[in-house]
Amino acid sequence: IKKEGIFPNKFLWGGATAANQFEGGWNEGGKGESIADHMTGGSAISPRKFTKQIAHDEHYPSHEAVDFYSRYKEDIQLLGEMGFKIFRMSINWTRIYPNGDESVPNAQGLDFYKKVFLECKKYGIEPLVTISHYEMPFALSANYGGWLNRKCIEFYLKFCETIFTEFKGMVKYWITFNEMNCMQYSFGEYLSGGFIPEEDGPLDLFIPDTKEALSKRYRALHNQLVASAKAVNLAHSLDPENKIGCMLASSCIYPMTCNPKDILEAQKMVQLRNYYCGDVLVRGEYPFFAERFWEENDINLSVEDEDFETLRTGTVDYFSFSYYMSGCMSADPDILKSGGNVFASVNNPYLSASDWGWQIDPEGLRYYLNEIYGRYRIPIMIVENGLGAYDKVDDDGEIHDQYRIDYLKAHIEQMAEAIKDGVDLIGYTAWGCIDLISASTGEMDKRYGFVYVDTDNDGSGSFTRIKKDSFHWYKKVIETNGEDL
Ligand code: BG6
Repeated sequence: IKKEGIFPNKFLWGGATAANQFEGGWNEGGKGESIADHMTGGSAISPRKFTKQIAHDEHYPSHEAVDFYSRYKEDIQLLGEMGFKIFRMSINWTRIYPNGDESVPNAQGLDFYKKVFLECKKYGIEPLVTISHYEMPFALSANYGGWLNRKCIEFYLKFCETIFTEFKGMVKYWITFNEMNCMQYSFGEYLSGGFIPEEDGPLDLFIPDTKEALSKRYRALHNQLVASAKAVNLAHSLDPENKIGCMLASSCIYPMTCNPKDILEAQKMVQLRNYYCGDVLVRGEYPFFAERFWEENDINLSVEDEDFETLRTGTVDYFSFSYYMSGCMSADPDILKSGGNVFASVNNPYLSASDWGWQIDPEGLRYYLNEIYGRYRIPIMIVENGLGAYDKVDDDGEIHDQYRIDYLKAHIEQMAEAIKDGVDLIGYTAWGCIDLISASTGEMDKRYGFVYVDTDNDGSGSFTRIKKDSFHWYKKVIETNGEDL
């Protein structure tokens, strides 16, 4: 399909990664242990496990991940070859502050990221840095109770101040926290909140919500929201050039039927999953429906007086989100719900699904973009989207991933529609642009990249990079500014 001039001239095409899934070098260069370093590999059917001590007979995928730590030059060169305008990556907090509460940063960690940013500059690639992407220092979890403790606000801000100062002029685009709304359900307790389970064992991503659990999650989330607002103010005061955004896991939700009960159920989910955090981050205040939710669930946020002023002033410059799938809501408690990436929902009979059961819905992206832009009216970036799939190296030594091209093409077409609708979409970073570890399952088999990495679920292999068919396709998409899909 030939599209003429729909994407703005400076549209930020690129790809996204996260340090704990990509970088490896988990104990090199003075790095401390992060919460991700304590999660074993899992699979589509068996959950990842958490262990308090690093056990020698377990495999922890973050430890080597795909070794960006030592291959960053080769990797960034590949991104440059595709013509990337922007590269989303995260900074491993524990590379800068190994335990999170030190008074002096780790110089080797700062040096590593400076080298990465310089390398990006060589290819004219703008870094987009997620400050915290599921990689909180393990010591902050173990010794302080993670984000339940307001002290983490100070530690996080110190980390922010260090990186804003050290990387001034090298990084302009920032994201305070990855998928902040994941803290609202069990998925985020450990990964976002840093709540350490009492016992070693499987990390259940979808456990039922008790009032006690909800209260803890929402208190920790409040602390993060305050930290995020303070970081926004700090970023702006240290460099007015900084653009700092929020990042949510999109919850594109439809009512299962036109039964008003289903409609209300869906509306409730949309409010809670999208607008609860979104309103605080973009509008600077909790939404009108929050109070009833807190009351009904006995939630006490432990707010301090100055928090409201902090939230009011620390609003973001742009809204970003991840989008993989949509889901349906039903008021009927007997209808089976299944887990997708972030919320349990009822399957939509009109949609197909990935091998991991995530329902593919390109039109949902257009719908979601319209909803979010309609509410917030600030620039939007899609900072994760893609198809996790089993890739196979063919007899010709190549990876023919037409299924991935089809998925991305259909989503980019809907982005173009949303831009025509009037949405101010400024960028797109496809998830896992170079294959990396899956966050939910810890597998290597669930691949998203344009570049194949030769390693498997056990972490063995040569780690050689191979360009997939989608590599050449995406290069062309960027070259033609989304005209030639
Ligand atoms: C998002 C996360 O939820 O989805 C990423 O921000 C994650 O860290 C991505 O990798 C895809 O999920 P998964 O489980 O397929 O890796």
